[in-house]
Amino acid sequence: MSDLASRIRHWYEQVAEIDPTNLEARRDVELVIAKLDDGQLRVAEIDENNAVVVHEWVKQAILLLFRLRGLETSLAGPFEFHDKLELKTQYARRGVRVVPGASARRGSFLSPGVIMMPSYVNIGAWVGPGSMIDTWATVGSCAQIGANVHLAGGVGIGGVLEPANAVPVVIEDGAFIGSRCMVVEGARVGKGSVLGAGTILNPSIPVIDAETGEEISRGYVPDFCVAVSAQRRREFPGGDFYLPCVLVIKRLGENERHSKVALNALLRDHGVAT
Ligand SMILES: CC(C)(COP(=O)(O)OP(=O)(O)OC[C@H]1O[C@@H](n2cnc3c(N)ncnc32)[C@H](O)[C@@H]1OP(=O)(O)O)[C@@H](O)C(=O)NCCC(=O)NCCS
Repeated sequence: MSDLASRIRHWYEQVAEIDPTNLEARRDVELVIAKLDDGQLRVAEIDENNAVVVHEWVKQAILLLFRLRGLETSLAGPFEFHDKLELKTQYARRGVRVVPGASARRGSFLSPGVIMMPSYVNIGAWVGPGSMIDTWATVGSCAQIGANVHLAGGVGIGGVLEPANAVPVVIEDGAFIGSRCMVVEGARVGKGSVLGAGTILNPSIPVIDAETGEEISRGYVPDFCVAVSAQRRREFPGGDFYLPCVLVIKRLGENERHSKVALNALLRDHGVAT
């Protein structure tokens, strides 16, 4: 693999000049995309020190792909598309349930037991086993979604491609992301945590402990927290204004599921999600 990595780095040094006639570069890049598609490679993962590690060369391969592919027209019934990348296929073999209207790009990875309601998953994203991507949720490029996560309706998980070393959004195992949340630009939600509906989380947003008033982090909700969207007063020369923050209102026990989230887990077990 290190050989493939060094070849991709070599091609990326000339990314501005590279074009679809470079068949050697294309072969290397397509190999990386095939490995991403089957989950043999990941853009990022959490290491033993609980830090997010980005495999920059894998992202570079994705960026190169856009230089190495031309636009092509494809048809799906009466729908026409005009794009550089194909959609993912072979869902039955992968053990993934895909409701009509959902689409994932090839080069994203969906683990067995994933359910996609009409939603979208972009290239480089990784979704763990048993996770539910609800209606109109979007999983941006390279986002890393753990096992048994629920992304509720309309959730926006931001994508990051450039710069290649940018940290993607990470949602850890068992997290529940409430309807219409926006989690972007390398923000992170820890294991088993619940993000209340309509919360915006990015690396500028303070995450505050409601018990102590202490700022826990920026853009990172730790494990087993229940957090909701809140506001804090800030003084400016022009007056006092209220800026968004995320407030941790409860702590869950390790492996405890929030009661309001348990029902969804039950629906998923029986495969009857609406
Ligand atoms: C985060 C959530 C799980 C909290 O539930 P809970 O632990 O039972 O907490 P409560 O409902 O008792 O709310 C605690 C406080 O937080 C506030 N709060 C709850 N949810 C909030 C939210 N999304 N945004 C801002 N404040 C919220 C409540 O008003 C309450 O304040 P109060 O004590 O002054 O009345 C829940 O409110 C939520 O947002 N669920 C997600 C719903 C959803 O997206 N479903 C999708 C189904 S597909």
